[in-house]
Amino acid sequence: MKYKSQKVAYWFFATCMLLFSLQIIYGFIMGFAHMGMDGLHNIIPFHTARATHTNLLVMWLLAGFMGSAYYIVPEESERELVSTKLAYLQLISFVTVGVTAVIGFHFGWWEGRKFLEIPRPLDYLVVANVLLFIYLIGATIWTGKRKTTTAMVLFFGLLTAALLYLPGMIPTDNQTMDSYWRWWVVHLWVEGVWELIMGAILSFLLIKLTGVDREIIEKWLYVIVGFTFLSGILGTGHHYYYIGTPRYWLMIGGAFSALEPIAFLGMAIYAITMAKKGGRDSSNKTALLWTIGCSVMSFVGAGFLGFAHTLPQVNMYTHGTLVTAMHGHMAFWGAYAMLILAIITYAMPIMTGRKLHDSLSNTFAFWTSNIGMIAMTVAFGIAGIAQVYLERKMGIDFLQVQKEVEVHFLGLVLAATLFTAGMIAFIANFIKFGLPSDVSLQSGEGKRS
Ligand code: HEM
Ligand code: HEM
Ligand SMILES: [Fe+2]
Repeated sequence: MKYKSQKVAYWFFATCMLLFSLQIIYGFIMGFAHMGMDGLHNIIPFHTARATHTNLLVMWLLAGFMGSAYYIVPEESERELVSTKLAYLQLISFVTVGVTAVIGFHFGWWEGRKFLEIPRPLDYLVVANVLLFIYLIGATIWTGKRKTTTAMVLFFGLLTAALLYLPGMIPTDNQTMDSYWRWWVVHLWVEGVWELIMGAILSFLLIKLTGVDREIIEKWLYVIVGFTFLSGILGTGHHYYYIGTPRYWLMIGGAFSALEPIAFLGMAIYAITMAKKGGRDSSNKTALLWTIGCSVMSFVGAGFLGFAHTLPQVNMYTHGTLVTAMHGHMAFWGAYAMLILAIITYAMPIMTGRKLHDSLSNTFAFWTSNIGMIAMTVAFGIAGIAQVYLERKMGIDFLQVQKEVEVHFLGLVLAATLFTAGMIAFIANFIKFGLPSDVSLQSGEGKRS
């Protein structure tokens, strides 16, 4: 670690670990409810658990992106953050708003729009919070000694993510228009600007972990950004097939979203090629494992399983079924959760000065969580396909079909238990690292890279 203010990142990462643990608990509540064991129904009904599960996910991923930015930007810009105190204030206010939202869900205070359930008054606080974050990162970059491509792509990814939160707040009482704007946030985040954030964090990790020249790594970053925008923007149309929008979206959405996997394939080839180029002598093998794992699993979860239901002829049957949950889990896990776990694995030994990264428990965490997540995806997939045939093809009633697929959720809960064992190992390792310390200043990379 070269700059004291990079330590702020630790507290964001610790927040990730806490919110992630809570997210998993709510996943189990839903897993059991799907099996017919819904004992908590009166306190935590399914819709509350679902909103809490997904919002905690988005919250810890955002905390992870913010932590990554506070870690990466000083190093790339070669200066301390413009204000460490404001960064801590930003973290505290972020957590306060998030926790208030989640508690509110349990008392029926929500908007009921999937992924954007946070009630309107809190939305304004989110905007104020993110503005402060963007200012801190932007001012550090602009007054820094150098402006690298990695830092610029990261910044524009974060800035556009912040701006794209706004369409979700456009007031309308038309269901179709509401859905239309909702996708500007949800789709253009995960299949647009978050990919820029992902590309930039991958680029930073690959520069540090493989030793390949920055010029080569950053050149490829441009190519990935290009592919992302080319396919992802009009790819939004794959959510406009049957919601009351004009029919031309069938054509546009189908064609452009079918190209989206190319950007994810590009990222996988990029990471693997750079790792090969750099040789096998990385200082932190487990961080490299998470980095490459992220690029591969995102291609499988987002690219391959996204493509599986993106054509209008298929989506007509699979829309809103458990097939969506199958894809949603592996896509979020591969692209964004693994990305955050990769940078945490990279940064912790440097921030704390303790070399616990290549430990057995960390390797166990990687393999167990990934095998668990693959098994969860299979369980959701089987339940989803059964649901499509029974409900959509045979016309059997929704609730009756949910009863039929209950058995597959036993498989899901078992797979999720394996996944959770891996995550417990990861979190235990995180705790073992202890707090960041100034002793580790400069002990990281001495050279300019
Ligand atoms: C480990 C324990 C977990 C369990 C048991 C679990 C279970 C579930 C269940 C039952 C649902 C609701 C499906 C439905 O609508 O009927 C759900 C939704 C969701 N979960 Fe999980 N989950 C877990 C972990 C995760 C993780 C680690 C992630 C992300 C990395 C994740 C991301 C999501 C997303 C994005 C949705 C919404 C999917 C959609 O919109 O269709 N979950 N989860
Ligand atoms: C990392 C990137 C991605 C993530 C995190 C992700 C996650 C998700 C989630 C959570 C949903 C459910 C959203 C909701 O109903 O509110 C969804 C829906 C969908 N995704 Fe993705 N996705 C990603 C990339 C892709 C890609 C590249 C494709 C296409 C090639 C794709 C195709 C779809 C389709 C067609 C739906 C709609 C499913 C339905 O009609 O119910 N996704 N995605
Ligand atoms: Fe999408």
